[in-house]
Amino acid sequence: MRIVMIGPPGAGKGTQAKLLQQRFQIPQISTGDMLREAERLGTPLGRVAAHFMSEGQLVPDDVVIGIVDDRLRAADCGRGFILDGFPRTVVQAEALDRLLDGRGGGLDAVLHIQVPDEEIVRRLSGRLVCRDCGAPYHRDFDPPARLDRCDRCGGALYQREDDQADRIATRLRVLAREIEPVTGYYRSTGLLADIAGLGSQAEVFGRIEAALG
Ligand code: AP5
Repeated sequence: MRIVMIGPPGAGKGTQAKLLQQRFQIPQISTGDMLREAERLGTPLGRVAAHFMSEGQLVPDDVVIGIVDDRLRAADCGRGFILDGFPRTVVQAEALDRLLDGRGGGLDAVLHIQVPDEEIVRRLSGRLVCRDCGAPYHRDFDPPARLDRCDRCGGALYQREDDQADRIATRLRVLAREIEPVTGYYRSTGLLADIAGLGSQAEVFGRIEAALG
C-alpha cells in the first residue's frame, strides 16, 4: 500500500499516519520529522532547512525531493509506505510520480484531511511531541499521563518552535497558497479522498479505513 497524506498543519496527518503504520506494517515517512532530525544533528541539510521551518515557510523543493528519494530506496519501503506531509507542491507531486515510475508502482491513495482553521489553532497551540519517538499528544484532547514524558517510550515532551501563534498563522497562509494545486493534481488522477478531520482520532481513522476500502 502506497499512501500519501496531505492537509493543513495540525490536521492529524502524523497521528493518523502512525495508526496506518500499525495497521499495515509499512513505514510512516514524515518529511517534517526527517527535516527536524537533520536540524537536530546539525547536518548541512538540517542547517538549510532550519531557517525555513522555524519561519513556517516551505523548505525548497529540491531539498525535500532529495530526502524523499533517498528514503524511498530503503528496504522497509518495499511493501509500501505512508508519506506524511509530502508532496506539498505540484513540483513535488510530479517528482514523486517520476520516482515511483522508476520503481515499478504508483500510489494507491492520497488522503486529504480537512480541518477548519480555528480547530487547527487549538490543536497546534496545545500540541506536545516526544523528542525520542515523535509521538504527538495534546494538552487537552489527548493528554499524556505526565505533561513532560511520553507514555509510549518515556522520552521528553516539548512544544515545537513552529507551533507558536505567529508561525501557525504563517503556516496557514502558506497552506492556503499551496494546497489547491496539489489537491487538483491528485483529483484529476482519481486518487484523492477527502477525509473530514473533525471528531475523535478513532472516528477519523474509521473514515480513512472506509476510503481505503
Ligand atoms: P510538518 O512536520 O509536516 O508539519 P505540518 O504539515 O505543519 O503538520 P503538523 O506536523 O504540524 O501536523 P499534523 O497534521 O501531523 O498533526 P498531528 O497529528 O501532529 O512540517 C513542518 C515544516 O517542515 C513545514 O512548515 C516546512 O517548513 C517543512 N516541510 C515539511 N514537509 C515539507 C515539504 N514536503 N515541502 C517543503 N517543506 C516541508 O496533530 C496535531 C495535534 O492535534 C496533536 O496535538 C494531536 O494530538 C491533535 N489531534 C490529532 N488528531 C486529533 C483529533 N481527531 N481531535 C483532536 N485533536 C487531535
